[in-house]
Amino acid sequence: MSDRPILQVWGAEHRFDDRMILRGVDLKVRQGEIYALLGPNGAGKSTLVRAVCGRLKLTGGEVALDDKDPWSNPAARRVVGVVPQDLALYPHLTVRENLETFGRLSGVKGRALQDAVRQALRLTRTEDREHAPVGHLSGGYKRRVNIGAAILHQPKLLILDEPTVGVDIDARAALDSVIRALRDMGTAVLVVTHDLDQAGGLADRVGFLREGRKVLEGAPHALIEQAFGAEMEILVELSVEADAATEAALAGEGLTRREGDGLWTRLDAGGYAAAGRLDKRLRRAGVVPREIRVREPSLQNLFTLVAEWRRAA
Ligand SMILES: Nc1ncnc2c1ncn2[C@@H]1O[C@H](COP(=O)(O)OP(=O)(O)OP(=O)(O)O)[C@@H](O)[C@H]1O
Ligand SMILES: [Mg+2]
Repeated sequence: MSDRPILQVWGAEHRFDDRMILRGVDLKVRQGEIYALLGPNGAGKSTLVRAVCGRLKLTGGEVALDDKDPWSNPAARRVVGVVPQDLALYPHLTVRENLETFGRLSGVKGRALQDAVRQALRLTRTEDREHAPVGHLSGGYKRRVNIGAAILHQPKLLILDEPTVGVDIDARAALDSVIRALRDMGTAVLVVTHDLDQAGGLADRVGFLREGRKVLEGAPHALIEQAFGAEMEILVELSVEADAATEAALAGEGLTRREGDGLWTRLDAGGYAAAGRLDKRLRRAGVVPREIRVREPSLQNLFTLVAEWRRAA
């Protein structure tokens, strides 16, 4: 990884009417680095991304893309490729035709366009569908073509907004490996996501944005180790839907129910031994877990912890 930041943001501030949306955010993304920008709805992620792309003029602070201001300098905007959250492809055109069209739109022509299309097909692993209409492809392929359309002008910074929404696990893994391949070629990657599992596995660094401020930043593993030390996460999966008595028993053990997958979890420095004791106590209370897992805390745990710090502060 090179030390040269492709993207630099200093003290970004933004006010919509009289609401402060960004309150002094610094950000650096370097060549060959994947940076995941995380944060709850309304934290200001998309506003920051719009400023980075030169689509919004900040009310305070500065942005430099390859040392140029993207708002006042159109050349700076060519440094970035944006993969929008919604698919922006022509369903009736084939993959190749889509890429050729987007390449022309970003000013690539002739021989260079043919080379760029070939490289995009290869990098996004969509060569085997080159002549299929995009409308016939699976969701995962469409997402990869969407990335292909954003890299034809060989941007130094690729920005992806919520790339995994509506994508299944297998397709997500394929998407991650495409993003890594681009990083390994030296592209700087900024991923905006709610998907903490994806961010934890993919990003070299993550930053949490909250109410317009960056509240935490670093390498996922280091952040998790700092915050949790020896604590492990215990996850309990039930074989049947919990009734009121079961919920009370689980809550009595300090477990909370996760949104999304419905697993019950808690942190515990006792690791596997603590999980074994928990299993015995739950069974005595008439709760039969289907499975109890022990694992290293995730970014999800860290995110919850940060939310608690904020409430306590
Ligand atoms: N053009 C606008 N005018 C006024 N307020 C806006 C405008 N765009 C965004 N906002 C507000 O700014 C805040 C931050 O929005 P932003 O889209 O940056 O959040 P986000 O972190 O991307 O959230 P999400 O995860 O939901 O995409 C929100 O409260 C939003 O309502
Ligand atoms: Mg957003």
